[in-house]
Amino acid sequence: MHEIIRRLDEKRAAARLGGGPRRIAAQHAKGKLTARERLELLLDPGSFEEWDMFKEHRCVDFGMGEQLIPGDGVVTGYGTINGRLTFVFSQDFTVFGGSLSESHAEKICKVMDQAMKVGAPIIGLNDSGGARIQEGVASLGGYADVFQRNVIASGVVPQISVVMGPCAGGAVYSPAMTDFIFMVKDSSYMFVTGPEVVKTVTHEEVTAEELGGASTHTIRSGVADLAFENDVEALLMTRRLFMFIPSSNREKPPVVPTEDPVDRVEPSLDSLAPNDPNTPYDVKELLVKVVDESDFFELMPDHARNIVIGFGRIGGRSVGFVANQPLVLAGCLDIKSAIKAARFVRFCDAFGIPVVTFVDVPGFLPGVAQEYGGIIKHGAKLLYAYAECTVPKVTVITRKAYGGAYDVMASKHLRGDVNFAWPSAEIAVMGPKGAVEIIFRDEKGDPAKLIERERAYREKFANPFIAGHRGFIDDVIMPSETRRRIARSLEMLRNKKLENPWRKHGNIPL
Ligand code: HXC
Repeated sequence: MHEIIRRLDEKRAAARLGGGPRRIAAQHAKGKLTARERLELLLDPGSFEEWDMFKEHRCVDFGMGEQLIPGDGVVTGYGTINGRLTFVFSQDFTVFGGSLSESHAEKICKVMDQAMKVGAPIIGLNDSGGARIQEGVASLGGYADVFQRNVIASGVVPQISVVMGPCAGGAVYSPAMTDFIFMVKDSSYMFVTGPEVVKTVTHEEVTAEELGGASTHTIRSGVADLAFENDVEALLMTRRLFMFIPSSNREKPPVVPTEDPVDRVEPSLDSLAPNDPNTPYDVKELLVKVVDESDFFELMPDHARNIVIGFGRIGGRSVGFVANQPLVLAGCLDIKSAIKAARFVRFCDAFGIPVVTFVDVPGFLPGVAQEYGGIIKHGAKLLYAYAECTVPKVTVITRKAYGGAYDVMASKHLRGDVNFAWPSAEIAVMGPKGAVEIIFRDEKGDPAKLIERERAYREKFANPFIAGHRGFIDDVIMPSETRRRIARSLEMLRNKKLENPWRKHGNIPL
């Protein structure tokens, strides 16, 4: 017995040491924490239960038979975040560069399977050189086993990826299929083919950071949601995100008690939308003033800035917010913003989080690039997402709601439950200027007449009343009362039941 306990202690010590002091020092020198240090920060102190600490790879080729490190480059198990269960895996770059062997993949699959059985999120901390080169196809099979589970878990339990080191080749497709990707600036990158291959094939010279660093993916590509300065910040923000989302599609997100009254009136909002419809304002001011304690957790803030998405709470309950941003492209919808918002709406719908939409949209962005880029198909993603969505939907038109974009943005016609408008709302097929230029084309030579026509059009259509007459708007509300009215609507909708007809799955335009 004593001998077994001694050997157990030895094995535990070896596993905790990972690739050894030299490689741990190298990891620290790069500004990165080790796999275990990361889990300590992510999880509540003392909550981590480790699994498969003694698991080793089974490869004997290329001298691997002599290199057995318990744990095989990934630390797996479960723990809690603010008392709520989560399953985790954390790749250990100090062990064979965190590369994925058959055994390493089995460890990840085991925690994913258990998370599905008990209905708990899966958080992966990625730091890996990719497929374990010595293992060949066995490691490719391991990746595919993880991918398959990512897909089956999608919409059942939330999946979060924190990319904290290399993530290249096919390995990127596991994070890509999870719900959120966070990255660390200057120490993480994601790409399908690295700079060397790019140079050989396309003769483009680019660094790893430029090709797939945190800034690239949070600004240009939109692959990742948020970029952080270091490991510590990324992990603390993962804990913060975790508090907005439920453990599974069968549970509600945690309620966070608040001192902030749900009937708080915000007089400053009455002057937020400028009188001149062409003068922009920052919709984030509205978001921050509506949510509990100004706590708005924005996702993808630097990509497709013409639409804002993120979580907040009202009365302690999580809400997903989508808002056109008049400060950028006048709030127009374009390819990137439609994709960004559609995926977010679908996350909220899959996990039972109500969606509140703030609308100030002059339409879809015109242009050859947009049409050639497939705005028809990509814009349809957002339309589809809102239309299939069955969670409570509350919409507030703050100013412009023109054309097809009016329909798309959680309108009454797409089963919006409660649709409000501010007095400044203009709900019409298009802006007054564009409208009279088409209707009164013959009067083009008479600018004074056109101005008069525009004034008349504005008076007739640039208001919320015509939509109100038809019941497309449930009420016109004072901006200062927005929080209170949304709170009441969400309370009324708490037990909403709406189901789409049975089908294997829809066919969202991809
Ligand atoms: C086995 C690996 C490895 C791998 C790194 N190591 N990647 N061992 N398989 N894939 C080992 C190194 O040999 C080294 O061991 C240790 O990890 C640290 O690596 P370094 O190169 O010293 O670190 P660094 O300079 O930081 O470079 C990191 C790196 C580089 C850029 C990731 O290691 C690299 O290019 N690795 C190969 C990447 C790759 O081609 N992977 C396969 C991609 S294909 P020692 O003993 O010296 O410490 C793929 C397909 C997936 O992943 C398909 C899924 C469908």
